[in-house]
Amino acid sequence: MTKPAVVILAAGKGKRMRSSRPKVLHELLGRPIISYVYSLAVSLDPTQIIVVISESMEEVKQHIAEHFESSGVTTTFAYQTEPLGTGHALMAAVPMLQGFSGPVLVLSGDTPLLTEDTARALLLTYKENVAASILTTKPFDPRGYGRIVRQGKQIRIIEETDATPAQKETAEVNTGTYCFDSDALLNALPSLDKDNQQAEYYLTDVIGLLSSSAQEIVTVETADSDETTGINSRKQLAEATRILRFRINEGWLDAGVTIVEPDTTFIEPDVSIGNDTVVYPYTFLEGKTAIGHRCRIGPFSRIIGATIEDEAVVEHALVRDSVVGRGAQVGPFCSLRPGTKIGAGAKVGTFVEVKQSEVGKGSKIPHLSYIGDAAIGEDVNVGAGSITCNYDGYKKYQTIIKDGAFIGSDTMFVAPVTVGRRAVTGAGSVINQDVPEDSLAVERSVQKTIAQWAKRRRDRQSKKR
Ligand code: UD1
Ligand code: CA
Repeated sequence: MTKPAVVILAAGKGKRMRSSRPKVLHELLGRPIISYVYSLAVSLDPTQIIVVISESMEEVKQHIAEHFESSGVTTTFAYQTEPLGTGHALMAAVPMLQGFSGPVLVLSGDTPLLTEDTARALLLTYKENVAASILTTKPFDPRGYGRIVRQGKQIRIIEETDATPAQKETAEVNTGTYCFDSDALLNALPSLDKDNQQAEYYLTDVIGLLSSSAQEIVTVETADSDETTGINSRKQLAEATRILRFRINEGWLDAGVTIVEPDTTFIEPDVSIGNDTVVYPYTFLEGKTAIGHRCRIGPFSRIIGATIEDEAVVEHALVRDSVVGRGAQVGPFCSLRPGTKIGAGAKVGTFVEVKQSEVGKGSKIPHLSYIGDAAIGEDVNVGAGSITCNYDGYKKYQTIIKDGAFIGSDTMFVAPVTVGRRAVTGAGSVINQDVPEDSLAVERSVQKTIAQWAKRRRDRQSKKR
């Protein structure tokens, strides 16, 4: 396959989104639309990628610079000064294409579901004497797309706004993905005009121009119209999200992951999951989350950028930028905030919040606790309602609880403070001094018991009535 140059058109305003953000930066399962198109371009091993953007779209440039720094593909940004149409956008890329001779693959920045296989199938039609190839499809609902109109050997693309009722009946539409011969393209582009309903320079008119000058145009029809869905509106963004979500979920089902109810499971593209893991309904796996084998995840859980090791269980939980060790149990109703590391076989239970803390192997924090900035050793038991008081209104301080310690219920740790190995704290204690190993620390006033007090009170009350 001759290496192509790829041009991504992304400078459009995206009016139909009714947004102050550029359309191609809207997110589809956690990644901007444009990043899918750019990834596809990179996977085709092109000579260069040219992204056409507008001056108000520096964010697109930043996103690509940050996320694809290591792609190794020469990428240039071409600026379209005014959004005067797709043909006008491609004109902005012409200076970068000077001196290049070969296939120019044009991708729409708003068509993120296109697969590598389909793009390669289009590129394979590139050969001598073919001026352009168009990727077409027959969607269930062709509204909004340009129609492929054939007359003898001639092919034209008619935009919906310019189409006659008869032309609108055409089932085959333009997907906005083309492979041009560079010479044919550069010769035809200057002849475009704005003589249409939208007063724009249509890239689609290049096809008509080439065809009418007897140059050969090839069409490649894809049966899967889902992958050529263009995102023009929020409705189409939701539709594309649904399509991508099912594509991802199917991939995990094929890889040996049980997804109990794919309809209510959201797995972002950069997530990985080991086989024999079960994902229960209403679960969101986001960012670069990595889940091991034989885990049970959900129901009702959101895991963002976390690592969950083999056989761990996460139920009704929010886990963000944390590590959950092998066979550990998290939840129900718990929140692991960034920087938390739960050791193998440990348990973080009901209504527990852990922030930037380490919980050692086999330790348990089963109920109603806040643990922040703490280092908890192995086999520590933290009684219900215990809390690290890590913040004095100015700074955060650390709590250290060493291996084998037994923390009585409702212990308050006024940090910085350290509890030694195998030490015990009495229930209800406010610990503000270090506890040496093997000791008991109890901070509690002596209980006063007044015999028969309750009975006397009852008797007094009943006399009043
Ligand atoms: C375009 C095609 C239509 C096709 C459809 C497929 C044209 C005239 N029409 O229509 O035949 O069926 O895609 O999805 O090409 N853009 C610019 N600068 C502009 C205008 C657009 O860079 O001035 C970019 C947009 O950011 C977008 C892409 O080009 O990524 C397509 O533009 P859009 O306005 O969405 O075209 P459609 O109306 O969808
Ligand atoms: Ca579009």
